[in-house]
Amino acid sequence: MSKIYRFYAAILVTFALGIHTMAAQSLNQSLGNLSGFNQTEFGLKGSTPTGTFEVSLYSPSVIRVRIVKNNQHDDFSYSVIAQPKAVKFNLNDGSNKLTLSTDSVQLEITKNPVRFTLLTKDGKIVNQDDAAFGTSWIGDEVTTYKKLQPDEKFIGLGEKTGNLNRRGEGYTNYNTDYFGYPANADMLYVSTPFYIGLHSGLAYGIYMDNTYKSHFNFGASNNRFSSFTAEEGPMDYYLIHHKSVAEIIKSYTDLTGRMNMPPLWSLGYQQCRYSYYPDTEVLTVAKTFRDKKIPSDVIYLDIHYMDEYKIFTWNGQRFPNPDKMLEELKAMGFHVVIIVDPGIKVEEGYEAYEEGLKKDAFVKYPDGTNYTGQVWPGWCYFPDFTNPVARQWWGQSFKGYVDNGIDGFWNDMNEIATWGQRLPELMTFNYEGHPSTTRRARNMYGMQMARSTYEGTRSLLGGKRPFILTRAGFSGVQRYSAVWTGDNLPTDEHMMLGVRLVNSLGLTGIPYTGPDVGGFGGNTSVDLFARWISIGAFTPFFRGHKAINNADAEPWAYGEEVEEISRNYIQLRYNLMPYIYSNFYEASQSGVPVARSLAIYHPFDDRIYQGAYQHQYMFGPNIMVAPVESNKQITKVLLPSGSGWYDLHTGKYFAGNQEIYADCPKNQLPLYIKAGAIIPMQSPVLSAAEKNDGELKIHVYKGEGNSVFTLYEDDGETYEFEQGNFSTRDIRYDAKTKSITLAKPEGKFASKYSKVKLVLVGFEDLSKTAKVGGKKATVAKDNLSYLKAISKFDPIGAAGKVEGIPTQTISFDNSSSEIKVQW
Ligand code: GLC
Repeated sequence: MSKIYRFYAAILVTFALGIHTMAAQSLNQSLGNLSGFNQTEFGLKGSTPTGTFEVSLYSPSVIRVRIVKNNQHDDFSYSVIAQPKAVKFNLNDGSNKLTLSTDSVQLEITKNPVRFTLLTKDGKIVNQDDAAFGTSWIGDEVTTYKKLQPDEKFIGLGEKTGNLNRRGEGYTNYNTDYFGYPANADMLYVSTPFYIGLHSGLAYGIYMDNTYKSHFNFGASNNRFSSFTAEEGPMDYYLIHHKSVAEIIKSYTDLTGRMNMPPLWSLGYQQCRYSYYPDTEVLTVAKTFRDKKIPSDVIYLDIHYMDEYKIFTWNGQRFPNPDKMLEELKAMGFHVVIIVDPGIKVEEGYEAYEEGLKKDAFVKYPDGTNYTGQVWPGWCYFPDFTNPVARQWWGQSFKGYVDNGIDGFWNDMNEIATWGQRLPELMTFNYEGHPSTTRRARNMYGMQMARSTYEGTRSLLGGKRPFILTRAGFSGVQRYSAVWTGDNLPTDEHMMLGVRLVNSLGLTGIPYTGPDVGGFGGNTSVDLFARWISIGAFTPFFRGHKAINNADAEPWAYGEEVEEISRNYIQLRYNLMPYIYSNFYEASQSGVPVARSLAIYHPFDDRIYQGAYQHQYMFGPNIMVAPVESNKQITKVLLPSGSGWYDLHTGKYFAGNQEIYADCPKNQLPLYIKAGAIIPMQSPVLSAAEKNDGELKIHVYKGEGNSVFTLYEDDGETYEFEQGNFSTRDIRYDAKTKSITLAKPEGKFASKYSKVKLVLVGFEDLSKTAKVGGKKATVAKDNLSYLKAISKFDPIGAAGKVEGIPTQTISFDNSSSEIKVQW
């Protein structure tokens, strides 16, 4: 070949290769035919010309599928704390498919090409790859496509707007600071790439463990597939199948962890404001709560407590003597939660800045210089919380605040939020020794900040539990922190959205959540506040908050009537504390949330997904809340099947499985008690720690079957429960044998209650028949005073009348042996 020919040939080849490479990069490429596999201890590994895959069992019902195009990805997760298990399984090598079966499920892997189908033990399809696309790449972006089942519904995905059933919607996960987000916004502050699919009476969960920006499509703009996409990294997902939604959440939280018991005081009412200052104002607010006898436990200090917004400082003019202020608040029974933002002011001589530099703890550009972004204090550096050195340093820097007497820490702006909101993506984060760009670290940053704050303050508090709150997070954040749903607005739409966000976070393993009651960004109407505070009383995290430059927003700021309504609902929450605390214990053990979407109990009842009913939820196992907008006087309520229901306000009994109309004047949030319910309550207190009269009031609502409630008690403030200093006690109601039994308590903790009062609702006259421990009991009539209290403001004159249901009480001394009441 002459030189000139060689030259043209070279150009042609280069050109052709160029086209070829371009085509390979831009066209969809899916996992190809099986070229080989081998069985492993936990499952199998296989390869195809396009990529490799690994299937590992985490339990007989939890299967991890990890697919990579090449081996450039490390196998590191902050989120998953479980390990694969040597579960008994069988691997069958058929002519065109491999079948891995456990005692619970089967996973079929077709060979040409490699596609995955999850089946029940008896062969029903639970979840199936799209036959053509399966797992595919476009460049570095990887997507798994799943066949859309005709009746399939999708729930979960955490802090996402939209309906309970997410079918037809698509979402993106990239933690974002979004002030005053519209009620249909995407993306918000927290990313949790986990959802639950429901079809043909079958339920499954999919968790994609990948922190890069991700996209979930639940049949949006197509009727062929649902899909999940990560813009980079491996396709690494867990398939979970169980009969019930609750078991799926349990398995998901086996993977990503559960909340620890929060301090009891944090379950009370919390009052926030951007910002309360100076110290005299803080004290006045606290004192007003006490004077007005509105129960409350917490006051917040927002950014103005600091000197020029510099973390780990105090503003000496506004708070000249924080120790003294905190002492006075403590004497009134208040805890203080302070805001902490990650931005550290770039200012020579400022201790946190100098220390951070010394530890080399800040987020860096790839050239090794520190990233500088602007936030409240001006130009700032940001601790790299994915660096253990930074976490350790940050955590220990709370010593001063802890010494002052602070035990609550509110982690804000940790998406990371900076003015301009375009966090550069080229930065290098430590990522636990796996250097990664912002793209991988951004979604994890908030969770690692919360972790650092939790671990640091826990170690500093001498055995006491800190309360940690965060705005940003990722799957697993529940291990360290409660979550609030950011900068909402004072509208009915937002109030209802807040309910859906909390319920969805609960379905996604994060049980301790709540919105800003009243709505953050703007003034709240009187009626809206009345309704929101009532719903708030039945929300796991219960905090009123309001942005700067708006009108006062404390419960007394909306006139006498709303003050009364607020007091009544907040008081009811405190009365319910033994029930609520036990529900938090259950969440810490099983992951089942405190606010439970009806989808947990009735996933295949289509009615629960209707616009009219999708907000309804169970607060714990026994109280159903039917949230309703503030401008409504009457609303439709779905009473689910499986039990009867008592209207909490009127006491009226309704059969289950029906739709009713309920009155809902502003003092009356529709609340229904499940027939057979056991609800332990206590006498009114003004703060969670206040010693009450020692009487446990166990409310039992007559039902047809058996029910049980496990009462949990511990000291409410230390970690001694981890050493066994707690007690659990089953309270059983048996309609057939006509008995209520308080089982012998388990555990070391001596009950706070010396007396028990059974409050029996809806039962026949027991005065002649009731016995306690075999001896005739004295039966008294009760006036259900807590109902009357709620209903005091009664514009339509209906509430407060207990329609035809007798309420009787039987009182006896508590003891640590079994107590049986029979009639
Ligand atoms: C952010 C927070 C808000 C806080 C404000 C001032 O907007 O979300 O709750 O009050 O910053 O710190």
